[in-house]
Order: sequence, then C-alpha cells, then structure tokens
Amino acid sequence: MTLKPVILSGMQPTGQLHLGNYEGALKNWVSLQDNYRMFLCIVDWHALTSDFNDTAPMQERIFQTAVDYLAAGLDPDKCSIFIQSEIKEHAELHLLLSMIVPIPWLERVPAYKEKAEALDLDSYGFLGYPLLQAADILIYKADAVPVGKDQVPHIELTREVARRFNSLYGKVFPEPEALLTQFPAIPGTDGRKMSKSYGNDIRLADTEEETTKKIKKMVTDPKKIYKGDPGRPEICPVYALHQVYSTNSEEIRIGCSTGALGCVDCKMQLAASLNAALRPLREKRKELVNNKKYVINILKKGADEARQVAGATMDEVRRAMHLMREDV
Ligand code: TRP
Repeated sequence: MTLKPVILSGMQPTGQLHLGNYEGALKNWVSLQDNYRMFLCIVDWHALTSDFNDTAPMQERIFQTAVDYLAAGLDPDKCSIFIQSEIKEHAELHLLLSMIVPIPWLERVPAYKEKAEALDLDSYGFLGYPLLQAADILIYKADAVPVGKDQVPHIELTREVARRFNSLYGKVFPEPEALLTQFPAIPGTDGRKMSKSYGNDIRLADTEEETTKKIKKMVTDPKKIYKGDPGRPEICPVYALHQVYSTNSEEIRIGCSTGALGCVDCKMQLAASLNAALRPLREKRKELVNNKKYVINILKKGADEARQVAGATMDEVRRAMHLMREDV
C-alpha cells in the first residue's frame, strides 16, 4: 500500500519537446517524483481530437516524447510513464462518464469554444476532450494534477464530474487538485509564446549548431538598431531566455540598456549558456534515441503498472454502477 499522494499528468505526443515544455512541465515533474506516486501519460487519443487526418507520424512522435521525458530526468523506477491508448480502461471510463456529464458542462469549457473556432473543429471527440482528460485523472484516483494555468478549467470539470459520479453511485473518486507551479515564461524566437505550431521553438533535440542558428534569428527590441543604441531588455525575448539560462543576466541587462552590449554579442552569449545548460540532457537524449528497445520497455513497464491501478478502479466503478454480476 503506497502512502504517497497520487499525481497524474500528461502531455500530447507532439514529437520533439521544446524549452517551453521543459520549463513548464518536465522540470516540475522531475522535482515531484520523489514525493508522489506519479503516473505520466502520453495522451495519444487526445492528439486525435485535433490531428485525426494524418496519423502516420504518431508512433515516432510518441517515441520522441518518451525520450524527452527520460532525458529530462524522469526516473522509470520512481514513476510510471505510459501511453494512454495502451490502457483501454481510460476509454471505458470516458464512455461511462459521458452518460452523466451534461453537454453544457463541456460547451462552457473556455478552451472548447476558442479552439473549435480557431481550428474549425466540430467532432464529438473534440467536445469530449476534457472528459477524456477527467477519465485519465480519475482512473488513478489522483490527488493532484500538476498543470499550467490554462488547464485549470479542465481540472474543475474533473472535480465536478467526480462529485456527480460519487453522488449518483457512491464514493469512488477523490476530487483532484490542480498543482500550479511558478515557472518562467519561455518566449519563442519571435517573441510570442513558444509553440511547435508557431514554428518559433527551440527543442531539446536540437543540436548546438541548430540552437545557435535559431538564437541568431531571434527578434530583439526593434528600437535597438545599432550596437550603441540602448535597448529595452524587459521586452526582449533574448533577455527573457538569459534570465533563465545565464548566470550573468544582470550584466546582460545593464549592457543592453546602456547600449554597451550589441544584439549579436548578446545572442552569442545566450547560445553559449543555453547550450551549456542543455548539454547533459542532450547527451542522454542521444543515447536514448539509439536505444529504442530500452525506451519501449520502459513504456511497457509503465503500462503494466498503470493498468493494475486503472483495472482496480474500473472494477470499483462497474460494481458501483451495477455493471458487474455479483458472485453467486
Ligand atoms: N490537456 C492537457 C494539455 O493540453 C493534456 C492532458 C490530457 C492532461 N490528459 C491529461 C494533463 C491529464 C493532465 C492530466 O496539456
């Protein structure tokens, strides 16, 4: 019997992860793995809610995501890392929860309207996105879910669904808390939020040369045209990254604002400190990519561990809902 509180979190298999994924989620997960019973799920079914038309890259994306998890320092002896679609129980719970969730609860989730319009999505599965997420969480009876602010409405929905289930069929599920952590804002190379879909990301998998090239192309303060011009570090994405990766960011700030430091030099310094910071992770990553069997075995082991817990919860759920014949 484990006494540690349970955490579940997940990420879509977008492929190679970027600095935003690393700073915003992975690093935090690594810091939690000693004190929680952690389940980390690569949510391939969720990816289908928007990317259903080209599924050919799915397996490679899942693999690259798993490699990044491990390279970031998640320890498979401490946490269960697995692929959502390998635990069919998530689908069963999603189906059962779909019977008790009113459609307006799903329609009023903020991400639903925004994304439905922006990406022209109108599928049944897309409306059910946060309910599938609720099933991911509840099936492990998670106490906490480490997520970014944007996910809070999804955790709220999960709590409401748990409450409704418990009041209809008896208490099975705890109500999970969102575990919000502070992390630095990671702008992309164009100054917008770093995102694979914006094409402004720096990836853990990038080589040092690729990283340097991307940094050289970064946007800076548009008012700082010549080296001697004073710049505004507080609006510059290069400076934002210095603050995360450079030990001399105060020097950089002063150099930029006085005009003593030019953008080219500033960027080269960032490339050096970022590459140095990521070097151990990238070395580990290379080993993992060349050791596919090892990574896949970790996913298999994680799925076995997850399946045990998910299976036990589903027995309880079926019994609570009278979907299981009592022994005679
Ligand atoms: N919706 C989450 C995101 O976009 C991904 C996700 C799916 C998730 N299932 C989850 C996160 C369960 C936490 C817990 O990032």
